[in-house]
Amino acid sequence: MRRLATISALVLVFALTPATAYADEPVQLAKTPPMGWNSWNKFGCEVSDKLVSETADAMVASGMAKAGYRYVNIDDCWMTHERNAAGELVPDPVKFPRGIKGLADYVHSKGLKLGIYSSAGTLTCAGYPASLDHEQTDANSWAAWGVDYLKYDNCNNQGRPAIERYTAMAKALRNTGRPIVLSLCEWGQNKPWLWGESAGGQLWRTTGDITDSFSSVLGILDQQVGLEAYSHPNAWNDPDMLEVGNGGMTEAEYRAHFSLWALLNAPLLAGNDLRTMSEATRKILLNRDVIAVDQDWGGRQGALVSGNGQTQIWAKPMSDGSAAVVLLNRSPIAAMAATTTAAIGLPDAGSYRVRDLWTGREYQADAMIRASLPVHGAAMFRIWPGSGRTLSPLSTLSVGLDEVVEKDRPFQALATLYNDGSTPLLVPSMTATAPAGWKVDGAATVRTRKVEPHQSWTATWKLAPTGGGGDKVEVGVSARYVTIRGQQQASQTVSAVVAQPPPAGQVQASSLPFISTGNGWGPVERNTSNGENQPGDGNPMSIDGVKFATGIGAHAPSTVRIYLGGHCTSFSATVGVDDETHGNGSVGFSVVGDDRTLAQSPVFRGNQAGGQLTADVTGVRIVDLRVNDGGDGNTWDHADWGAATLTCN
Ligand code: GLA
Repeated sequence: MRRLATISALVLVFALTPATAYADEPVQLAKTPPMGWNSWNKFGCEVSDKLVSETADAMVASGMAKAGYRYVNIDDCWMTHERNAAGELVPDPVKFPRGIKGLADYVHSKGLKLGIYSSAGTLTCAGYPASLDHEQTDANSWAAWGVDYLKYDNCNNQGRPAIERYTAMAKALRNTGRPIVLSLCEWGQNKPWLWGESAGGQLWRTTGDITDSFSSVLGILDQQVGLEAYSHPNAWNDPDMLEVGNGGMTEAEYRAHFSLWALLNAPLLAGNDLRTMSEATRKILLNRDVIAVDQDWGGRQGALVSGNGQTQIWAKPMSDGSAAVVLLNRSPIAAMAATTTAAIGLPDAGSYRVRDLWTGREYQADAMIRASLPVHGAAMFRIWPGSGRTLSPLSTLSVGLDEVVEKDRPFQALATLYNDGSTPLLVPSMTATAPAGWKVDGAATVRTRKVEPHQSWTATWKLAPTGGGGDKVEVGVSARYVTIRGQQQASQTVSAVVAQPPPAGQVQASSLPFISTGNGWGPVERNTSNGENQPGDGNPMSIDGVKFATGIGAHAPSTVRIYLGGHCTSFSATVGVDDETHGNGSVGFSVVGDDRTLAQSPVFRGNQAGGQLTADVTGVRIVDLRVNDGGDGNTWDHADWGAATLTCN
């Protein structure tokens, strides 16, 4: 019986082997998702031979080359504004004094590969000559220069069919005889996952551009749901380049971004300055366990398993029979997330070995997989069925605190220690640490005898004000316990905002403190539209010609969180798309009070009159003003909450 089972498992593996299914591909240029660097996210048009060759040096010196990063890719703005007499693109002689050929030779001498950029249009996005109807000429130049990779954009495409434009370039590249990876940068407009491979591309962008913010990461992530079916060796979905290390996100957010991109089999193209990156950034980009998930295609790109709006579980089968899982906290407060080995597709195996890919530590679990997650953080595990029995049980410490505490009033903190393994946590203790201006009222350390398998233990502390203290409190809890592997410890610090006095009378929402904000592009603006992506660069708010002197300017997906403390009764605003989008964009608005949806608008589009959105907020402690992307991605989704007004006691 056992032998039979093994044979049928082997047959199944062969049936799924990608090499069999896609054997007609002449050369597999991207058997695994391409890894490397691209200039755009950090440097925009400031490209040069100096930057690219120093980046190649840094890629080797930092250890990235050894970890698999190979392509050094020049994005837009490398060429002059005119083609030469022979109709060829000319590298800007100031930026690239030894030409692209000289630079390619240098990059190759480092054991790396060089990538370049053009658009399937008349001009690139930055207005330089591009390759539509010049495909063969340009492909020949790149091949002659020793280019190994082309990112082919979609600007100024004259409305001509995408498939034709991209196929023409793929053919031209093939005609050169040089293997050149073709990355279709079509922004997902014509569902390139359906035709990108047959058009001759090895990867295709699925969305508009990423920006260096966590809401951009989430906005892009949401558009990957369902695309996993189209990914396989030599044909990859591309959720855009990495922003890790560019400064706009926290370390936890960058780790989440990198974990998710790896789970999605995304190309891993660093977009930061490799020459000056911090040790923290280097550690993220060089996490070999996470890279191994990205580079392994076990039959399917990672996919969304479950979610509740705050937390999500994403999982991916690995080719050795293990599974990788990302537990993601999308919310601006610390959270716990859990799933089961069955839910993430693992066979029933009695015991599992669980490796935390961000700490390298290993645990034993029975069936539940759980993690305590910081604000906008992710845990990433790889889980092997049928082993782990000699390891410490998977245990999780989760600290709970209200998101907002009131000034000079006592508040409660709570912590739970979970045991999801099959051996006990012995003599556990938990110790709370009070923030400045507060003290633990009672014993800071609490103890119990043990936490049995599949059980948890919860303790609470009262924190009393001692005077002073800032506008934020941080409570730390550390736990100690003994397992079959000896003494263990865990700790977590969570924070809460100290409430300002709640609003009174009739107030403009834009004049109140925000507990937290999330925004799809740049910061949320007060009393102006979203503008570009810089703080304070909004325009006077205007919806279909109607101007608003006050309000909140947002970009989908967006959440503005405000403390009402139960003091208000109603909210109203005129909502719609700001006129600065020139008729583009589509968004939906909602008002959510203490996690309950109180009002929801239909989808508003550009050049459409605003609508009145009102909500009864009686008794609501915390209100969220949320904007979604109208269901079609967030390009141009500039959303105005015009004259957003709260009526309070
Ligand atoms: C488009 C692409 C970006 C970048 C710029 C360059 O926006 O989507 O990734 O290449 O053009 O101008």
